[in-house]
Amino acid sequence: MPKIAPSILSADFAALGDQIAIVEAAGADQLHVDVMDGRFVPNITIGPVVVEAIRKRTRLPLDVHLMIVEPERYIPAFVAAGADTVTVHVEAGPHLQRTLAQIRESGARAGVALNPSTHPSVLAYVLDDFDLVLVMSVNPGFGGQKFIPATLAKVRAVRTLLGSRPVDVSVDGGVTVDLAPILVDHGATTLVAGSAIFNAPDPGAAVKQLRSASEMRG
Ligand code: DX5
Ligand code: ZN
Repeated sequence: MPKIAPSILSADFAALGDQIAIVEAAGADQLHVDVMDGRFVPNITIGPVVVEAIRKRTRLPLDVHLMIVEPERYIPAFVAAGADTVTVHVEAGPHLQRTLAQIRESGARAGVALNPSTHPSVLAYVLDDFDLVLVMSVNPGFGGQKFIPATLAKVRAVRTLLGSRPVDVSVDGGVTVDLAPILVDHGATTLVAGSAIFNAPDPGAAVKQLRSASEMRG
């Protein structure tokens, strides 16, 4: 069954605890936390203190998406703050294998993110070093952008490359109820959605709609 991961980037940050409680009660599987540094991407969001605060308010696994340069410097702090999965961008540094190993050694699941223009072949020699691939379907930096259709083929290519490995394929950016079944058909196992959930009139209902749409595949 596909997993639904609300991205808190589009939540009301002044009422974050309440917003998280709503999506948790509606059956969200995990929370997606976008960390931006104003260097890897042209936006700045949150750091480990916010992850620590969220950790105290929810039982959901926290999937921390680092859109930062030199992610290896901050992995220990995010794991200590309560991240269950730490995802780093392939494009953020030259030593991907080392960084993925560092995440696992620190006790978290390791994720690897690909920008829309990045070919999945960059993963060919690290296939046993991560637990999640995050296929970016928008250029990272902002919520509410439009899904880039070319990334659909990449979801399938990633799934094929992984073979039978028990690795999650997550899609992040511009995910809507309409796209959900198509993404699952192409091999997505987790759907990240920010604006489709938190900008909806009823975020709890939006989680449920995404879930039923994602189960309508085939
Ligand atoms: C974009 C972030 C996404 C973002 C998705 O850089 O990585 O997680 O929150 O937001 P939507 O679903 O609105 O595209
Ligand atoms: Zn993200």
